[in-house]
Amino acid sequence: MKSAALIKFSISAVRKPLQTKTDALVVFVHEGRDGSGLDDAEALDRLIAQLGADGDFTAKAGSSVMLYRPEGIAATRLLLVGVAAQPTLRDWKKAVQVAANALRAVPAAQACLVAAHGFDTLAELVPPVFSEVFYRFDATRTVDPKDRYKLEAVLLAAPGGAAASDTAKPALARAVAVAAGVRLTRELANLPANHCTPSGLADAARDLARRHDLGCTVLERKDMEKLGMGAMLAVAQGSAQPPRFIVLEYRGAGRKEAPHVLVGKGVTFDTGGISLKPGAEMDEMKFDMSGAASVLGTFEAIARIKPRINLVGLIPATENMPGGRAVKPGDVVTSMSGQTIEILNTDAEGRLILCDALTYAKRFKPQTVVDIATLTGACVIALGKVNSGLFTPDDALAAALLDASRAALDPCWRMPLEDEYSEALKSNFADVGNIGGRPAGAITAACFLWRFTKDYRWAHLDIAGTAWHSGQNKGATGRPVPLLVRFLLAQAQ
Ligand code: BES
Ligand code: MN
Ligand code: ZN
Repeated sequence: MKSAALIKFSISAVRKPLQTKTDALVVFVHEGRDGSGLDDAEALDRLIAQLGADGDFTAKAGSSVMLYRPEGIAATRLLLVGVAAQPTLRDWKKAVQVAANALRAVPAAQACLVAAHGFDTLAELVPPVFSEVFYRFDATRTVDPKDRYKLEAVLLAAPGGAAASDTAKPALARAVAVAAGVRLTRELANLPANHCTPSGLADAARDLARRHDLGCTVLERKDMEKLGMGAMLAVAQGSAQPPRFIVLEYRGAGRKEAPHVLVGKGVTFDTGGISLKPGAEMDEMKFDMSGAASVLGTFEAIARIKPRINLVGLIPATENMPGGRAVKPGDVVTSMSGQTIEILNTDAEGRLILCDALTYAKRFKPQTVVDIATLTGACVIALGKVNSGLFTPDDALAAALLDASRAALDPCWRMPLEDEYSEALKSNFADVGNIGGRPAGAITAACFLWRFTKDYRWAHLDIAGTAWHSGQNKGATGRPVPLLVRFLLAQAQ
């Protein structure tokens, strides 16, 4: 997979930022405060006062101004960015977005960012925000070198010398790791389905494992047959592409310590199968492996951060296609758990591949299992593109995931999970049906998975609304990698 180089982020103590030679000096100025708040910055503070008096820059949150070769400043460009007087994490994020967008419009190769306050917050936000703003999918496009983004390096200049940079350095390293994970997830999810097949996903997992010395095993159809993964194989049988079942292992804690398990839905293309989807926007069903991509991205980040946990990733990977061999509505299959399933709608395929992966997860005697899936259109209707849906019977696990999602600015919202909803899954011909009708569609899907997770602590994240943008900015978001990494790091403590 060819892709543009990552921006290099670093921190260093800079005593005289105005004398720093750089393509762009970026200064965050707080609304309602006098000047930059920096030491030895008279020329800058005079400039800020003048801009304020003329009404050209009042440091209002969301505003910015760029000046070329201003007097008394060594940088080629000076970018002033307004920040709220008492900024929240989200206010800071917005200010960093403004800075990154302004820098994207000029050919600066390096930038130096300074702020008198909130340095640790900046260290945490700059890598993900800059990586997001400067990301472009090039893998299957012809790119004119002239159109490439020019920014190569971002230096965070710590005020007050080494003390500030010491606390910010680990935060920066973690943030860079998360940004790399998000990027891998976006890159894989954005790949078209003829490039990212089930075996292509397995190759990406093997490549990741080789780069970071992780364990990686890839099961093929005959292995899945031996295990009795009848639900997974039913989905795969309609496709000319052979299915894969990917097992990734990261060991950061002792052998005896129970692992956390992530399970990612890896449907590399979802046509709906015999219950064929309508044609409009069907191309977006290449993103139906976003759960799988988020598991790989989370491993990329975790392998860089190296926390003291054990982690297992499970990815059932297949296409969902119609055809002469495809599974038909009304077919009854036997899942790996032994439960029989009446496949009433072949488009509810995610839960079929996940249920066998969730049964497979038992062998790891896990501390927790979290599955991540673009599972239901109903979840998009319920929560839109803002929150991922969180489903779990475990209040403590819910709290841990909600906390992580808020801290990572990667929100999820807890949805109900109650036995009463399971009634809808009753079948006259099998132990369970694979659909529950239109009402509460995201919840009945979660109830289906719940039946296979009785042996461990489990949560389900429905990312159908949050994994990608539609329309003009069509493309993968890399969510919920920030949430998952936060959650796992909290488990290491
Ligand atoms: N991959 C889809 C869910 C989906 C739909 C995600 C639209 C994002 C946008 C899933 O496999 C699916 O088709 N679900 C069906 C379930 C139904 C048949 C019970 C759905 O949501 O319509
Ligand atoms: Mn489907
Ligand atoms: Zn699907």
